[in-house]
Amino acid sequence: MASQGLCLLQLLLLLMLSSASHARDIISPGKPLRGNDTLVSAGSGSYVLGFFTPPGSNNTYVGVWYARVSVRTVVWVANRADPVPGAVEDNAGATLSVSADGTLAVADANSTVVWSVSPAPGMGAGQYTARIRDDGNLVVSDAGGRVAWQGFDHPTDTLLPGMRVGMDFVTGANMTLTAWTSPSDPSPGPVVAAMDTSGDPEVFIWNDGEKVWRSGPWDGLQFTGVPDTVTYTGFSFRFVNTPREVSYSFQVPNSSFLSRLALNSTGAAGGLLQRWTWVWAGGGGGGAWNMYWYAPKDQCDAVNPCGANGVCDTNGFPVCSCLRGFAPRSPEAWVLRDNRAGCARATPLDCGNGTDGFAVVAHAKVPDTTAAVVDSTASLADCRERCLGNCSCTAYASANLSAAFGRRGCVMWSGALADLRVYPSFGQDLYVRLAAADLDSVSKSKKKVQVIIAVAVSICALAVILAIAGFIFWRRKRTKSRLSGTPSKWSGVLHSRALLSEGTSHGADLDLPIYDLETIAEATEGFSADNKLGEGGYGPVYKGKLEDGQEIAVKTLSKASTQGPDEFKNEVMLIAKLQHRNLVRLIGCCICGQEKILIYEYMANKSLDFFLFDKSRSMLLDWRTRYRIIEGIARGLLYLHQDSRYRIVHRDLKTGNILLDKDMTPKISDFGMARIFGGDDSEINTLRVVGTYGYMAPEYAMDGVFSVKSDVFSFGVIVLEIITGIRNRGVYSYSNHLNLLAHAWSLLSEGKSLDLVDETLQGTFDPEEVLKCLKVGLLCVQENPEDRPLMSQALTMLAAADATSLPAPKQPGFAARRAAAAATTEDTSSSRADGSFVDSMTITIIEGR
Ligand SMILES: *[C@@H]1O[C@H](CO)[C@@H](O)[C@H](O)[C@H]1NC(C)=O
Ligand SMILES: *[C@@H]1O[C@H](CO)[C@@H](O)[C@H](O)[C@H]1NC(C)=O
Ligand SMILES: *[C@@H]1O[C@H](CO)[C@@H](O)[C@H](O)[C@H]1NC(C)=O
Ligand SMILES: *[C@@H]1O[C@H](CO)[C@@H](O)[C@H](O)[C@H]1NC(C)=O
Ligand SMILES: *[C@@H]1O[C@H](CO)[C@@H](O)[C@H](O)[C@H]1NC(C)=O
Ligand SMILES: *[C@@H]1O[C@H](CO)[C@@H](O)[C@H](O)[C@H]1NC(C)=O
Ligand SMILES: *[C@@H]1O[C@H](CO)[C@@H](O)[C@H](O)[C@H]1NC(C)=O
Ligand SMILES: *[C@@H]1O[C@H](CO)[C@@H](O)[C@H](O)[C@H]1NC(C)=O
Ligand SMILES: *[C@@H]1O[C@H](CO)[C@@H](O)[C@H](O)[C@H]1NC(C)=O
Repeated sequence: MASQGLCLLQLLLLLMLSSASHARDIISPGKPLRGNDTLVSAGSGSYVLGFFTPPGSNNTYVGVWYARVSVRTVVWVANRADPVPGAVEDNAGATLSVSADGTLAVADANSTVVWSVSPAPGMGAGQYTARIRDDGNLVVSDAGGRVAWQGFDHPTDTLLPGMRVGMDFVTGANMTLTAWTSPSDPSPGPVVAAMDTSGDPEVFIWNDGEKVWRSGPWDGLQFTGVPDTVTYTGFSFRFVNTPREVSYSFQVPNSSFLSRLALNSTGAAGGLLQRWTWVWAGGGGGGAWNMYWYAPKDQCDAVNPCGANGVCDTNGFPVCSCLRGFAPRSPEAWVLRDNRAGCARATPLDCGNGTDGFAVVAHAKVPDTTAAVVDSTASLADCRERCLGNCSCTAYASANLSAAFGRRGCVMWSGALADLRVYPSFGQDLYVRLAAADLDSVSKSKKKVQVIIAVAVSICALAVILAIAGFIFWRRKRTKSRLSGTPSKWSGVLHSRALLSEGTSHGADLDLPIYDLETIAEATEGFSADNKLGEGGYGPVYKGKLEDGQEIAVKTLSKASTQGPDEFKNEVMLIAKLQHRNLVRLIGCCICGQEKILIYEYMANKSLDFFLFDKSRSMLLDWRTRYRIIEGIARGLLYLHQDSRYRIVHRDLKTGNILLDKDMTPKISDFGMARIFGGDDSEINTLRVVGTYGYMAPEYAMDGVFSVKSDVFSFGVIVLEIITGIRNRGVYSYSNHLNLLAHAWSLLSEGKSLDLVDETLQGTFDPEEVLKCLKVGLLCVQENPEDRPLMSQALTMLAAADATSLPAPKQPGFAARRAAAAATTEDTSSSRADGSFVDSMTITIIEGR
């Protein structure tokens, strides 16, 4: 073993020595690189610097290419316009050298210098060396390591990870990409990609001085004209916009992930920006370059294809249309698809009178920003005001979507809007200023579209419902024929669209108000920190006040939620349909580009646990209030279980999810874990147990079986907690090791149940009512689900004349026998700081067995 290890070590040393002996990465004065030699970057050895002759050429260049890729791919050229004559085979004597004063030079065999660069004056003399670094950067630096010159400041046609395109205002370096003249000639061709730093910076591709593509401004996450950037896995992007520098660059996770952005002089527009990634295959350097992305891509990627105030949409017929409130300037040309004249405003703006408004163009690649004005600190509401207050302002949009709400800044346009396009789902909201007369027509046509959509949805829905019905029927038949006793672990999750549309076909009103961002921003004073109520599991919650004075809670769902806008809308609509005095009401929502926002009625008194388990606040809950709360929760639950159009199991009932309005009316909230039962299923098996420990029914916690009776169990726990003011889980510390349920049961059987009552009530309660509630609570937490009452029965019991008429409860679930096992069930529910809002909107339909 030992000798083997030694052997390996020797081998390793040998290898290191041999590789060090002929792969150097540095040149120094007097030790130039010759034409027949190369430098290899140290570290992972990713890049090679050497002399090469492109296929079909008779010239020799100094360039950088990938060391481990089987296809020689040159990514940088030093002397692209000043070659050494003759092929590389005949140029063994050519040199790349660095002089003592830091001048980097390429010379032919006769030492005639063909290309050279010198450090900026002021660098002074020093021991300069030039090194090819492991990121592909050729760096000339002095003995102190100060960089005198680097290849990354002078890209050729390729952007490597870490390389920048843009302006460095300190050094004056304009980092651009310039395509090769031809595959055999690296000299600068007519196709250039560069950052235009005026207005809001954008990258353009020019062909012979003519713009052929525009990236759109960086919106904080991506260029608005490269909306698929967000789907790039592994990549990270950096966009700098400061007075010292405006630049774009990208990074990759590691050195085996090869990606480059290259400018090519092919393509219909004459210029093509392509992102290539290397796909490794087999061993060695095997594999191939795969084109990951390219632009321009389609008709709408051309610069200003629809003229001023036109909108390009590749899904439109024809692709060009005028913005709302605008009409073709030259209708004759427009019908012949000559859109150059663009569109003109139908009604002039009213400017100073303040009657103008804004129409939202969703999913937009915003118009050309070279003349736009940017304010990086304003809120969207400020932008609106600013725009209305400036007669030349015609549109505005958020400047930085990755910044916090209310601090996203704005871009404001004046005059005609050029080169606007829309995407099916990416892009951002653009607010276009219109005269009041044109705004009216906008909302009218919107309504028409809504009606059409509603009709279409109903028709689709009918088909979906029939399909589901058929499916359920088929499953039921199939399951029946299976051996009974094997619990089905299958739970089908269908889209809630079906349910939603069921509502539509019933003719129920589908009209959940959709608010725009401005309104919400106004209501919350620009999402100000003062108005923040808390941070929910899915994003911050703000308090707000609508124009009509209604107080609201605004919940922003962070981008981490993976729901698409359609799913989100459907589920919101579904919840909006659940309307009951004892359920928290959804007032509206907003799907504003990337944002998903829910608007709830505001609950002045937070949640039940906020009062119940706090010594001083629990005094405010007298017995009458507690009794009303118990009744209210029961009614709300009855509605969910029986009286609404759907059979809904909440699955996460707990005091934290019971919100209290200003009159202490209880409202059930948080339907994030709710399940909807199909048909007349009575119970469902699930693999994923969600809920909160302490409130979960034993059969659910242990076996994953849930039904309306598991909600009844949670209700029973809540009732007992309301009576005692003690958290169910907190009772484990009792010396007799009984939990709250078992403790209450034993006291009841001993006839000492009034000992249980919260001491802050200090005898100010109706003993008969307390006993009734206690019995109902204990009946609800019985071990066997069949023994527990339905919510309708529980309500009847609460209304009963006296407690003695109620049956005696059997031993509760989670009494000592199962308590140990239960203790291992994790609390899977996120506790919420705000404690007062419906969180995720993921209601799923379960098709039971
Ligand atoms: C390169 O030069 C040699 C002689 O100098 C000539 O014979 C050959 O045709 C040239 N090749 C090209 C591609 O120009
Ligand atoms: C390169 O050519 C020079 C002569 O020009 C010779 O001395 C040197 O050994 C060669 N180097 C390699 C690595 O072939
Ligand atoms: C170098 O100089 C010699 C004599 O001046 C000349 O014949 C030869 O062509 C030159 N070589 C190159 C590569 O310029
Ligand atoms: C950088 O170069 C491009 C292309 O030549 C040019 O259009 C742009 O104006 C330059 N930027 C600055 C700030 O000079
Ligand atoms: C490099 O990153 C890619 C993408 O994240 C990953 O698939 C790969 O395993 C990584 N390779 C190494 C050697 O870490
Ligand atoms: C230019 O694009 C063409 C077509 O996609 C491709 O075959 C070629 O390799 C590209 N050239 C460069 C230098 O990337
Ligand atoms: C303001 O409104 C009045 C009456 O509607 C109109 O006469 C006037 O031209 C408007 N002012 C501007 C600046 O549009
Ligand atoms: C109005 O907008 C124009 C163009 O965007 C801008 O130049 C001007 O400074 C703005 N005026 C005010 C008062 O903000
Ligand atoms: C956008 O906002 C984020 C968060 O505040 C900030 O880190 C980033 O630098 C901003 N981007 C630009 C281009 O200003």
